[in-house]
Amino acid sequence: MPTPDLDAVVAAGRRAIADAADLDALREAEQAHLARRSPLGEVQRSLGGLDEQARRDLGRRVNQARTTLQAELAARRAELEAERDQALLEAERVDVTLPGRVPPRGAVHPVTRTTDEIVDIFIGLGYRVVEGPEVETDWYNFQALNIAPDHPARSMQDTLYIESGDGRAGELVLRTHTSPVQIRAMQEHGAPLYVIAPGRVYRSDSDATHTPMFHQVEGFMVDSDISFGHLKGVLTHFLQRIFRNDLAVRFRPSFFPFTEPSAEIDIQCVICNGSGKAAEGRGCRVCKASGWLEILGAGMIDPQVFKFVGYDPEQISGFAFGMGVERIAMLKYGIDDIRL
Ligand code: PHE
Repeated sequence: MPTPDLDAVVAAGRRAIADAADLDALREAEQAHLARRSPLGEVQRSLGGLDEQARRDLGRRVNQARTTLQAELAARRAELEAERDQALLEAERVDVTLPGRVPPRGAVHPVTRTTDEIVDIFIGLGYRVVEGPEVETDWYNFQALNIAPDHPARSMQDTLYIESGDGRAGELVLRTHTSPVQIRAMQEHGAPLYVIAPGRVYRSDSDATHTPMFHQVEGFMVDSDISFGHLKGVLTHFLQRIFRNDLAVRFRPSFFPFTEPSAEIDIQCVICNGSGKAAEGRGCRVCKASGWLEILGAGMIDPQVFKFVGYDPEQISGFAFGMGVERIAMLKYGIDDIRL
């Protein structure tokens, strides 16, 4: 049997290991030069056919050759792994100096913003904020406000009745206005009492200017000597603060079951500035060419209401008012469809 040229085997192995360009190639080199079927493996297997002395000599050299190649292999593997990691770091590099993506900022809804503005003006006048339930009893929403059972405001068309626990319909309603908060607040607190009450209200109504749910702000002032002059002064101040300092305001006689006398308050149209005219000789669409916009309902609280809450109408007088927040927001921000 010819003496295998171990030096040549080792030299070939080292070359293959050194030449391996990546980890896959290195695995192939290992397979080719160190596995059982490699030249080195062949030599190792041939040991069995040698006599003892020759086997021991060649065995030792084979072991040396294997150790050498394995050391080379490990060194080259470390090198290639470092190269691979470096390449990965380059490829996946993150530029931490790039500006971040700014998330879009939310904004306060125009209805919320308008409610806050309204409430703030009254807080500045010494009013306190009170809230009431959106599911009301018939008594608070209607009866205590002097709205008799046969009053047209209670008709099925504009009131959302809900069933009470025992299945009976008609005793609970989604409040149709914030006026029941007047009753609740007066029951809870004695006069003098200055209250502003924002909240959601519900009516069975839906078109470009009406939604089934909308917002109102109620307000009232009860004290020992409150006159219609206070009503005019407070509401004129409020309207000029919320719209414009020199805004024209007018008070028209009206009717509400819970106020006497009652008024509807108009402001000069904020779209056409009261002219009633739009561009190109057409009429202003918002005020229907009248130059005026209805904006508030108000009046002196009816003595009958004071009796319902246990106030003495001989001692106490007051005024109340209510307004729709969407309408004011739409005028302030020039929105012509409530559904927007
Ligand atoms: N509650 C009335 C409405 O919803 C408005 C109002 C409030 C009128 C207070 C007078 C006094 O139409």
